[in-house]
Amino acid sequence: MNKENPLHGRTLAVVGDLSVDEQRYLYLKTRGLKEAWKARGDLDQYRINDPELGVYLMFLEDSTRTKESFRNAASFHNVKLNVFDAASSSFRKSESLVDGVKMLFGYSRRSIFVMRTRMEGVCRALEEQLGDYADRIGRERPVFINGGDGRHEHPTQEYLDEFTFLEQRDWDDSHLHVALIGDLQNGRTVHSKADGMKAFRSVKVDLVAPQELALPPSYKARMEDNGFEVKEWESIEEYLKGGDVSDTWYFTRLQLERMGDEVRERESELRRAVTFRREFLDRLPEHSRFFHPLPRHREKPVIPSFLDDTPLNGWEEQSINGYFTRIIELAMVAGQLGSDFEGDSPASEPEEESFITEVPVTRTTKVEDRFKVGIKPVDEGTVIDHIAKGQPESEIWNRVDKVRRILNLNVRGSHGVFHTNDPREFKGIISLPDIREFGHTELKKLAAVSPGCTLNIIQDRSVRRKYRLSMPPKIYKFSEISCKNTECVTFPGAYQHVQPHFFRTGGETFTCRYCGKMHAYGDIWDL
Ligand code: NCD
Repeated sequence: MNKENPLHGRTLAVVGDLSVDEQRYLYLKTRGLKEAWKARGDLDQYRINDPELGVYLMFLEDSTRTKESFRNAASFHNVKLNVFDAASSSFRKSESLVDGVKMLFGYSRRSIFVMRTRMEGVCRALEEQLGDYADRIGRERPVFINGGDGRHEHPTQEYLDEFTFLEQRDWDDSHLHVALIGDLQNGRTVHSKADGMKAFRSVKVDLVAPQELALPPSYKARMEDNGFEVKEWESIEEYLKGGDVSDTWYFTRLQLERMGDEVRERESELRRAVTFRREFLDRLPEHSRFFHPLPRHREKPVIPSFLDDTPLNGWEEQSINGYFTRIIELAMVAGQLGSDFEGDSPASEPEEESFITEVPVTRTTKVEDRFKVGIKPVDEGTVIDHIAKGQPESEIWNRVDKVRRILNLNVRGSHGVFHTNDPREFKGIISLPDIREFGHTELKKLAAVSPGCTLNIIQDRSVRRKYRLSMPPKIYKFSEISCKNTECVTFPGAYQHVQPHFFRTGGETFTCRYCGKMHAYGDIWDL
């Protein structure tokens, strides 16, 4: 990271890649730009003005507004602009994305890639792969901006949405009460709201969608973790029966292209639940505004066209804001803006080694009787104790089996399920008389497979070393794990060799570093 300008060189793969302070900085600068632009003032302070900076728009899924606003924003900056379309580029013919990006990267002194893909997590993967490549050849690392990846996120749409909400409220960021209506299941612009609405200090969210289109529970949980008050309704009709209706309605279209046949068959019924009707008009609070990331369906829009010329129309100004916010985003990551930024940067990644604690032992610590299990008591070797302690017996056996397979323990030894000191509680123990030491990788694996266990290295009937292993904050570099989202960039065959990588996000939940899918601990393993 650049010390003078912390925003320079930053990839924007998800909304959280900018801290809330950095997002507010973006909104402040956009406001300044928009006002100066309207007043025909001098805009030079915002302009990158570097013909050797390449901006590459790679839209491998259709796009109109995102692509065109970035194209116009790049033209504003007087940089080198290249545009690829899904239909005409060879990425359709399964050309490796990494090869293509590397080639383009070679054509400019600095580069910014704006990507739209069906695959989720592409920008994060490219940031890592091309970043390593740039370091190797001694060039400035390229920047990747996510212009929408599958059902995952659409950070720059979210920044423009929040800018629009702030503008509508005369820049008062104390409170937002918003209704999110439509396809909350597939809409990435809605998913990005789970973090993006943190730009407001207090947030109330009304989710309006039939069950089939409901917001995935992980995003709802994220909103609640962020302190938002979240409520749900199945249709606009139901929503309007309640007392506390929002004056800010954010609609999304039904993304039929991402739905299964079963849901598609019920299209007209689902559409009716989230389409605004004339009869609802007098039930709206005063000064209500409607927003929509667009496009609207030509024949069956959820915001019907008779509303276009009414004061409810907030979506046209919203769409124009895409131009201004994207000018500022490019200026920030190119280092043109940001040296006057003051505030917090995004939280750094969790420390990874904190899960192995060596417990001191004295030379005289004798092997306790409880380790002497099975057919061959251990006088020399290793004992793994407390495996899946307190779990049901079947889970303990399952875990013992997993440990043996993952650590490839095809050696002499014994194992079993035993009582702990509490007669109602069980744990697993594995005794390995031939193994005298575990390497660092093995310890990591063991902590990942059986958090909470202890490892006792025994010599001459004494415990010489003892480690207590807890649930690691990251699990990666194991061939036995995978992300279970088939659209994830790590999914075999989806892309080009990206290793699965998970962060622990509270309790026993692990989130994919790339596509953000949350997994229960047991689900990341392929055993
Ligand atoms: C959205 C998108 O692509 O996710 N559109 C946009 O960027 N303006 C919403 C959509 O496609 O419905």
